[in-house]
Amino acid sequence: MADDQSAVPVPQGIIEVTAFMPDARNDPHPKLKALREECPVMRDDLAKAWFLTRYGDIRETVNDRTFVRHPLRAEDGSISRQLVDDEENPRRTSILFLDEPDHSRVRPPLARAFYTRIQKMKPQIEAIIDDTINAAPASGLFDLMAEIAVPIPVLVIARILGVDEHRLPEFRQWSEDVILGLNPVRTAEETARMESGSIALDGYFNELMAARRTTPGDDLITDMVQLQARGDAPLTDDEIVINLGALLVGGNLTTTDLIGNGVWLFLKHPDQLAALKADPGLASQAVEEVLRYEAPVSATSRILEHDRDVAGCPMKQRQVVFCSLAAANRDPETFAAPEAFDITQKRASHIAFGGGPHICIGAPLARIEARRVYLKLFERYPGLALPEQDFTWRALPFFRGLETLMVEA
Ligand code: HEM
Repeated sequence: MADDQSAVPVPQGIIEVTAFMPDARNDPHPKLKALREECPVMRDDLAKAWFLTRYGDIRETVNDRTFVRHPLRAEDGSISRQLVDDEENPRRTSILFLDEPDHSRVRPPLARAFYTRIQKMKPQIEAIIDDTINAAPASGLFDLMAEIAVPIPVLVIARILGVDEHRLPEFRQWSEDVILGLNPVRTAEETARMESGSIALDGYFNELMAARRTTPGDDLITDMVQLQARGDAPLTDDEIVINLGALLVGGNLTTTDLIGNGVWLFLKHPDQLAALKADPGLASQAVEEVLRYEAPVSATSRILEHDRDVAGCPMKQRQVVFCSLAAANRDPETFAAPEAFDITQKRASHIAFGGGPHICIGAPLARIEARRVYLKLFERYPGLALPEQDFTWRALPFFRGLETLMVEA
């Protein structure tokens, strides 16, 4: 089923395609299409950033190891630069913004331990998902985001990390508080909550590391302190704490939106839901199609270390290059009938998890969770329906997800 996308004026700046603009917040795709067709390498002098929208350019850019990531290395006054203050130490960051040689030192041991943990805990992860879905209302109207999409990722990551059962309510609160950091227009009260949440979380992770050194558990915190003690993970305590926090912040809202966007898409496209029900073996491909069609993270960025050409245009050292993952994922040069949500087609790889050295470390976990939720949810609620409602998309720039999703069981 193709969505209608009549011609729209070509945007002149990045802000026009973010959730700050009501039309782009409701549906960014027509504007992204206009840019991809008319101005695929846009310079925004106000945001001091480039904005790429073609799949080929973006794939090449994210894979290119000669770019850097830390916002302090970006041009003064650029949107990336506004994320940090001058006092900040560029080495005191999670892998998200860490550059070489530190990124290659910190990420591999963390990734190895994390992937081993996810595989080991897959039955427990699936049990958390099943229990959460079974605990949702048996019938009537309910908000799928509040009942299912929000709690699942935080309960799963808590179990993987090794959060003690009796600390879960606090952990969920801190996690909500630190996620306020993703909102650049948060209030002073929200900033204060974000800061106190982040202090509490760091304190708790430090406490857990000390506890697991004396009494090992079956969790990622134990894995990391043991690797560190054996010399297999050359990370400081502070680096472990920062990066465990990154797993929490990086994984919650994104997976919540993969669940919410997927359920919304299936309920809007009953033919696709019928195809999934008829062949549950399509579930993995369905997850990839949701990621392609409504990517929960709509952009990532890179910074130039030297003057050079990018996407055929001369660019300068320290300039910021934003890559629209949402636009790339609907590029007709790469995807046949890109405006159709179709889980039955075997498509080229989407780019919703970015790429290259910084490719999302949580992709395997997000995939396990979404696959299980789609299958279990439509099995528990065979007649799940989407009542009339105003869909409110979150006002966070570069994220795509619904605030609420009322469904009728
Ligand atoms: C649907 C869910 C998710 C989406 C769409 C998503 C998307 C992304 C994207 C676009 C990036 C930047 C990649 C780049 O610049 O090339 C990223 C990085 C990252 N993600 Fe995810 N993510 C998801 C789930 C998760 C989960 C579940 C976790 C952890 C539990 C996680 C943790 C991270 C971390 C730590 C990074 C930084 C990696 C690095 O820079 O080396 N993400 N993610």
